[in-house]
Amino acid sequence: MNTQYNRADLLAALQWQLASGVDEAIGEHPVDRTKITAKPTAQPATPPAEPATQRSPAARARQPEPSAPLASAAELGANARSLAAQAPDLAALRAALAAFDGCALKNTATNLVFGDGNPQARLMLVGEAPGRDEDRQGLPFVGASGQLLDVMLSYVGLDRTTVYITNILPWRPPGNRQPTSAEITACLPFIERHIELVAPAVLVFLGGTAAKTLLRTTEGITRLRGRWFDYAPPGASTTPIPAMATYHPAYLLRQSAQKRAAWRDLLTIRQRLP
Ligand code: URA
Repeated sequence: MNTQYNRADLLAALQWQLASGVDEAIGEHPVDRTKITAKPTAQPATPPAEPATQRSPAARARQPEPSAPLASAAELGANARSLAAQAPDLAALRAALAAFDGCALKNTATNLVFGDGNPQARLMLVGEAPGRDEDRQGLPFVGASGQLLDVMLSYVGLDRTTVYITNILPWRPPGNRQPTSAEITACLPFIERHIELVAPAVLVFLGGTAAKTLLRTTEGITRLRGRWFDYAPPGASTTPIPAMATYHPAYLLRQSAQKRAAWRDLLTIRQRLP
């Protein structure tokens, strides 16, 4: 890659490195491989699971019943695809997700986390799943990793008025555990339709789960990041979207040395924006 950096880029990179030091000093406690949801101040470690008292009465009342599936995985998949495909716009897609009962994460989540930012944006970012703060507020990337994401975006002149952000999963996995492949498969038609409706000029996958799911590959994020792919869901008739994976901000909070690579990715992505 022959990317030329100008003075402003180098200055911003330096500022980011300084900000990295601040990020490291905010007392993050790694809870999970890809998500950190603790507030960016010195606080006790995030408990592994949200206390039941912090969940809404409705969420507590709805307990998953994995032993009594109402339909086969194939039927659920067909139902999800049909619901998602019928949504003519983002409001309808959100309503379809809210009515969708094919993913048990809904039963333990407090809120549906649909998306944030500008749906007309040229750049769309896709993360993994909401964490505790996102679940509480019903918005993606509002916790510690979201704050780092905002800093990263600001250094390339972007913010939530110029990007659109969502996740592979719209509901928080309890205790921020890794989403299962069944949960990801159940919700896949919705994120695919979400991308189709936003129709960004450029897509960015934040972390391995988003990249592997949407690129339908088993390659790890270290090998995937920094490369351009053509994103097109199977059977799509639309033009493929240029897509790049980069490290998840929660990973960067723990692995500060990788911010340099993420910085290069972001500059490359910005240069690709029309
Ligand atoms: N991590 C994610 O992948 N998404 C969020 O919304 C928050 C943390």
